[in-house]
Amino acid sequence: MKEQLAAIRQQALAAFEAAADTAALDALRVQYLGKKGELTALLKQMGGLSPEERPAMGQLANEVRAALEQALEQRGKELEALALEQRLKDETLDITVPGKQVKLGHRHPMYIALDEFKAIFIGMGFTVLDGPEVELAELNFDRLNAEEGHPSRDWSDTFYFDKDSRVMLRSQTSPMQVRAMDTMPLPIRIIAPGRVYRKDEVDATHSPMFHQVEGMVIDKGVTMADLKGTLNTVVEQLYGKGTKTRFRPHHFPFTEPSCEMDVQCHKCGGVGCPTCKGEGWIELLGAGMIHPKVLKMSGIDPEVYSGWAFGIGLERTAMRRFKIADLRLIFENDVRFLEQF
Ligand code: PHE
Repeated sequence: MKEQLAAIRQQALAAFEAAADTAALDALRVQYLGKKGELTALLKQMGGLSPEERPAMGQLANEVRAALEQALEQRGKELEALALEQRLKDETLDITVPGKQVKLGHRHPMYIALDEFKAIFIGMGFTVLDGPEVELAELNFDRLNAEEGHPSRDWSDTFYFDKDSRVMLRSQTSPMQVRAMDTMPLPIRIIAPGRVYRKDEVDATHSPMFHQVEGMVIDKGVTMADLKGTLNTVVEQLYGKGTKTRFRPHHFPFTEPSCEMDVQCHKCGGVGCPTCKGEGWIELLGAGMIHPKVLKMSGIDPEVYSGWAFGIGLERTAMRRFKIADLRLIFENDVRFLEQF
């Protein structure tokens, strides 16, 4: 038995020393010191010894157990230290490697123009509304006094979703006038920017999708003078103090009277040049006093309330503002183009 104990001790110590990691060491602990381990098995045979032999053997066995335990602990610590060292090596960061350059994007010129526009109107107490691009023909046309048979409802101009021409991609932001009247308490002061869709071929000034900003005010005693005063203020903020505007009569089904507003050419100061095609003026937007029929359809009494509205093309505003010659550049999103703003 004495030899067996010595052999176990020797084998075990050699095995502990050879263990490659803590998992292997744990397995060895079980193999030698576990309930079914080799040393335990040997101790169970102590019962077969004579009473004289037993104490000495017992003591020796305890010594072996203590030696193994100590060796296990020692080797365990070593392995942990080795593992830590390895991890530190594996996870070393080379802080001298140059970083990756973060590429900042650019604001799109059209959104720069829109943000300026919003800031001006918010400053005047307007609320900014957002609305659906898939719209009911009822709101895009009927409620705006463009009844069945109106030329703008034609299939050649409008993207419809159904045979009955009831659901469509909005062709203007003006249905937002109706949505505002239907949902907001009076008085109302809103602008509503967004995409609109028309069946136009793409060229330097046309696209089947473009952006408009709708504006509307409804209150007691609102007149055409308020419309002109507000829009003149906006134009002065966008193009500088003293910028002249002019209002030409026009027709829209949902405003009466209707007009288009031109701004004096910023290039030539009104003399006439290529930018304004010799006119001295550049067309900016459509506007007018909200038709009494439109107010009535939304349950607003035109004898008590009146209002004005306008609609402006955003791409064109941005093109003028940043002197962009071709509308397609606005949509292509070529970074070399966008980087310039
Ligand atoms: N919706 C009109 C258009 O797309 C513009 C407009 C808006 C005119 C509001 C008058 C009032 O041409």
